[in-house]
Amino acid sequence: MIDDQLPADLRTDQPHTARVYDYILGGTDNYEADREAGEAVKTLWPTVTIATRANRQFMHRATRYLALRGVTQFLDIGSGIPTRPNLHEVAQTITPEARVVYVDNDPIVLAQAAPLLAGSPEGRTAYIPADVTTPRAILDAPRLHDILDLSRPVALSLIGLLPFISDDHRPYEMVATLVDAVAPGSYLVMSHITPDFDPTAIAAVTRLYHDSGLPLRTRDRAEFARFFEGLELLEPGIVSAQRWRRDDDELSVGSDAQVSVYVGVARART
Ligand SMILES: C[S@@+](CC[C@H](N)C(=O)[O-])C[C@H]1O[C@@H](n2cnc3c(N)ncnc32)[C@H](O)[C@@H]1O
Repeated sequence: MIDDQLPADLRTDQPHTARVYDYILGGTDNYEADREAGEAVKTLWPTVTIATRANRQFMHRATRYLALRGVTQFLDIGSGIPTRPNLHEVAQTITPEARVVYVDNDPIVLAQAAPLLAGSPEGRTAYIPADVTTPRAILDAPRLHDILDLSRPVALSLIGLLPFISDDHRPYEMVATLVDAVAPGSYLVMSHITPDFDPTAIAAVTRLYHDSGLPLRTRDRAEFARFFEGLELLEPGIVSAQRWRRDDDELSVGSDAQVSVYVGVARART
């Protein structure tokens, strides 16, 4: 729901990554330019809805898995427009006192962040508007330290974020800076669109994004795996999103080509 109190810098005449994704997920926090771009994506990549759902379901499963393993702190960068269940809702279902910090650089996420802050009474959540390309600004933010204790393990969740970070921004160094800042025994949770399974559709979507003025850098398996160098990948390693520790009763699955999203969860060595 777009309300009347939104900031003026939303540039509603142009598509935005977060809003196009929201539209594809069936959300309502988007504008005509976002919907047009979303429809064009659906034409070029008809299974994009399956892909975005598989990506969200991976976030749910990975968060549940880590919460059940005792992780109580989560730093979710590139959180996106709130979509239920949000990460803190998944984590706090298992651990009510779980603490979650969300980060995104899109002004519409800031404007719509209220659902991200309505956590369980025992837990804490916060939202920091910041750009991941300056990771120190996130790591040094006082609000982050109000909520998270970085000397204890944290699940660092970068889900669907890195495709929007070009090589110019040194994404590997950026992720390493974030991982180096968290305690041993922390986890890195990532997902990333890939051209490996359906190169034609993914190349067409990439061109569309670039023609619309949106960033998109897809990465193949080796490029994705490089983000986990020096970390201990959990089973089943790097796989297509729908394959990662799937619950037996999960209905929506899809093939690797339909999903075209790699995922992985790794532990920082102790
Ligand atoms: C595809 S959405 C993913 C949302 C959510 N993590 C999920 O997987 O459902 C990507 C999000 O990353 C955010 N984003 C893109 N570039 C960013 C940057 N440089 N810093 C912080 N957030 C960024 C976008 O605004 C958007 O909300």
